[in-house]
Amino acid sequence: MYSKFPPGYIARSTVKILIGGTSFFALLETFTGNEKFHKEQILPLVHRYVDAETAHKWGVRLAKSGLLAYYSNNQKEYPELKTNVFGRTFKNPIGIAAGFDKDGEAIDGLRASGLGFVEIGSVTPLPQDGNQRPRVFRLLEDKGVINRYGFNSAGGGVVSDRAKQAYRHDADVMFGVNLGKNKNTVKAELDYEIGANYFGNFCDYLVVNVSSPNTPGLRSLQSKEHLIKLLTTVRASIDRIDPARTKPKLLLKIAPDLNDDELKDIAKVVMDKRYGVDGLIISNTTISRPASLTSANKSESGGLSGAPLKQLNTQKIHQVYKLTGGQVPIIGCGGIFSGTDAYEKIRAGASLVQLYTGIVYEGFPIIGKVKRELVECLQKDGLTNVSEAVGADHRPKK
Ligand SMILES: Cc1cc2nc3c(=O)[nH]c(=O)nc-3n(C[C@H](O)[C@H](O)[C@H](O)COP(=O)(O)O)c2cc1C
Repeated sequence: MYSKFPPGYIARSTVKILIGGTSFFALLETFTGNEKFHKEQILPLVHRYVDAETAHKWGVRLAKSGLLAYYSNNQKEYPELKTNVFGRTFKNPIGIAAGFDKDGEAIDGLRASGLGFVEIGSVTPLPQDGNQRPRVFRLLEDKGVINRYGFNSAGGGVVSDRAKQAYRHDADVMFGVNLGKNKNTVKAELDYEIGANYFGNFCDYLVVNVSSPNTPGLRSLQSKEHLIKLLTTVRASIDRIDPARTKPKLLLKIAPDLNDDELKDIAKVVMDKRYGVDGLIISNTTISRPASLTSANKSESGGLSGAPLKQLNTQKIHQVYKLTGGQVPIIGCGGIFSGTDAYEKIRAGASLVQLYTGIVYEGFPIIGKVKRELVECLQKDGLTNVSEAVGADHRPKK
């Protein structure tokens, strides 16, 4: 048979295409799904050559690109992790904490990344720049971050347009908006009211964040008297939402630096039905500096997150779970890098968990890793669903 190609050309081309295709998919898989490659190769390079705030921006861009949907290891879901909290079904209990996607730029991309819920913000009513740079610092040896962003925000107008575009009431990934206040606002409750008005129709939950350490006076809003005023105002905004729509749940995010009396006060307020608090996020970053820190950046001012926060944070979850008798759902957040870390928070009393700094050190494959390892923890203890583990440390061992 006559062929216009020289002898062997088709065979050689086929082999080339096969090798090229296989290499391409192997590379894609390495870039998108490989936990070790991200943790041991990509992130150390980024940490060496890219400052923390620029790397953060790249991370948001990556999420926005939609590429996270191709991180194949993250896409696996497990029946053991499906759970009901706040009357809603979460396909898994792992969420991304506030501060990563402050301006709601990557909502769709994050929702496709294998997470069970996504929280954006903190959002302030008016746009503001936040503090001067540099304002984010890695503590490489301690697996921590100190940030003093100071609520840089595109403002409620811009961000609520994005939330409106992205929000679907029936989406299988829950969507929360974390509200902050502008630096110069005197009557704080008004800013949270404005925030609730902007976002109340376009999210599954709203977070009153009174725990960031980088806005002067903000954390004093955690006192009983201020909290009551603030929560009453926000609750009233939520109550005004058209009853035909599903109203967002109201969550309060607290600092890990509160003392026993302050925690008792908070427990009383959140247990009081008049203020309509549906859940707590424990916790924000800490202003404390554990003696164990060794990194050069340890003396930077701001809030510390990541591994050095883990224990303090779990201890606060234990305390609040006990104080509330497990009646108020807790989202545990602070220093989660593995399934075991997540399991510890859940056994301490968290119904859901969130992470942020773990992504700084291990990249997005950490999502799939935490889910897989959490299932292993449950199986080791003979549990069939994550909800059985919530608060397990407070019950006598079987
Ligand atoms: C760079 C950075 C920015 C943050 N910004 C916010 C924020 O705007 N609002 C907020 O409520 N928490 C913010 N947080 C706190 C996180 O949401 C989370 O509570 C804390 O980092 C503990 O979790 P992690 O140890 O997994 O990071 C920020 C954290 C980091 C590291």
